[in-house]
Amino acid sequence: MKLSSFLPAAAVLAALSVSVASSTRKEFSVSAARRLNYKPDYWKQVCKMNARYENLRFHEEECAVYLKQRASKGVTLSVSANGTIGDEPALDDGSDSEYYGAIQIGTPGQRFLVDFDTGSSDIWIDSISCGTSSCMSHARFNESRSSTFQKDGRLWNITYGDQSSAAGRLGSDIVNVSGIAVRQTIALATSETGFADTPSDGMFGLGFNGNEVVPGVQTFMSNAIQQNKLELPVVSVYLPSQRRAKGAVGQYLFGAIDHTLYTGNLTYVPVNGTAWWQVQFDDFRFNGTSLGFNSTGIVDTGTSLIYVGDEAAKALHSLIPRAMNSVPGPVEFRLGGKDFAVPYLDIPFARVSEGSEYCVSSIQGGQNGFWIVGDSFIKNTYCVFDHSTPPRLGLAPLKY
Ligand SMILES: *[C@@H]1O[C@H](CO)[C@@H](O)[C@H](O)[C@H]1NC(C)=O
Ligand SMILES: *[C@@H]1O[C@H](CO)[C@@H](O)[C@H](O)[C@H]1NC(C)=O
Ligand SMILES: *[C@@H]1O[C@H](CO)[C@@H](O)[C@H](O)[C@H]1NC(C)=O
Ligand SMILES: *[C@@H]1O[C@H](CO)[C@@H](O)[C@H](O)[C@H]1NC(C)=O
Ligand SMILES: *[C@@H]1O[C@H](CO)[C@@H](O)[C@H](O)[C@H]1NC(C)=O
Ligand SMILES: *[C@@H]1O[C@H](CO)[C@@H](O)[C@H](O)[C@H]1NC(C)=O
Ligand SMILES: *[C@@H]1O[C@H](CO)[C@@H](O)[C@H](O)[C@H]1NC(C)=O
Ligand SMILES: *[C@@H]1O[C@H](CO)[C@@H](O)[C@H](O)[C@H]1NC(C)=O
Repeated sequence: MKLSSFLPAAAVLAALSVSVASSTRKEFSVSAARRLNYKPDYWKQVCKMNARYENLRFHEEECAVYLKQRASKGVTLSVSANGTIGDEPALDDGSDSEYYGAIQIGTPGQRFLVDFDTGSSDIWIDSISCGTSSCMSHARFNESRSSTFQKDGRLWNITYGDQSSAAGRLGSDIVNVSGIAVRQTIALATSETGFADTPSDGMFGLGFNGNEVVPGVQTFMSNAIQQNKLELPVVSVYLPSQRRAKGAVGQYLFGAIDHTLYTGNLTYVPVNGTAWWQVQFDDFRFNGTSLGFNSTGIVDTGTSLIYVGDEAAKALHSLIPRAMNSVPGPVEFRLGGKDFAVPYLDIPFARVSEGSEYCVSSIQGGQNGFWIVGDSFIKNTYCVFDHSTPPRLGLAPLKY
């Protein structure tokens, strides 16, 4: 998923590094930088979800208004805060909204910052032939500078809920993630709008085969596993929160699990559904007590917030008092018999608008029967996206 705001490029964190653990052991890691000074646009994020997940529609009326006005300040299910939440300042910047890391495409490699996204299955970047201002603000791929580029020519396009979109053609080249290099079909955008203000040059799908825009294009992970490039068929995701680990750099670790980043043992849950990293959430708890909800849902690095059913969201927020000088306890998601917590201080996500005493809640409704659990959860839980047969998801509390 991509996010937008009106952020000058200079305010973007430039500290990116890539480390190769050991090529003989087939482990590779990409650092995930957090976008700093990000001013979230709540409705933009919410409305984008409608197009991101076809067949899923929520907040449709509000989104219609948003798309018309592009400036809606309305909010439902917000957690109120007035700037002091416990002993910590409210989150009003660096809201753990978007993470990105560097990859290379072509020979010699051209470098791109991409948003690694377990909720989609395509890789796309801008083509040098795209001249829109949005394209010009990003790294663009020049195919004639790559000796390994092969034309494909099939049309490709995608539209997001905030009406940003990209379109172009498929091509094939060597995609190199921190030393794992595979020939890969990618999409090259020759037109796109609405991406000017995001630091990512494109998207890198970590979803499954079958969920791609053009049917039959194999994912990077599927190619890497088939070509025996990885020690373990996994991507392990560590996206530490700004609040709890100031300055810590996140990590997407391909082919291995970093056991130093979590506490206790990993709990593995089966993945069902073939399109997404879909798992069964057995319970939804607040402050140690079940709220009586369960659902199937997905764990999605490309979504910032957590979207549960309307009733579940309502039940939770009815328990959260307006005054926030005490810390009543975490929200927990039960998976595989274990509870994984989103601490109370992470529930207010960001101010609804600058200076507002209201914060958008990290936990939203709208997803009846199909929860979408994004970075607000992942920044507290180490997640191992395991492509074994059958696939499974490993979870453990992040070590802070
Ligand atoms: C793309 O690369 C070719 C070959 O190096 C070069 O001639 C051309 O100017 C480049 N295109 C742009 C727009 O930079
Ligand atoms: C969008 O992509 C689809 C294939 O996924 C293609 O059929 C359609 O023509 C494309 N549209 C544009 C405007 O490129
Ligand atoms: C892949 O990228 C790494 C740096 O991350 C570089 O050392 C290596 O030579 C590249 N491999 C290929 C085949 O481009
Ligand atoms: C982790 O698993 C090992 C082996 O099953 C067990 O001995 C240990 O107690 C577990 N640790 C925790 C914290 O659950
Ligand atoms: C997913 O698996 C769980 C447990 O294996 C099962 O209870 C649930 O009904 C399944 N959901 C779907 C949508 O297949
Ligand atoms: C899940 O919730 C439904 C009601 O929505 C309930 O009937 C069912 O027993 C619950 N399942 C579990 C495993 O708690
Ligand atoms: C925030 O609310 C608390 C409790 O209601 C109050 O004590 C505090 O003075 C308020 N802070 C500001 C900055 O308004
Ligand atoms: C949270 O749980 C503690 C201990 O059980 C209890 O004292 C407190 O009132 C609870 N807070 C809320 C808001 O439910």
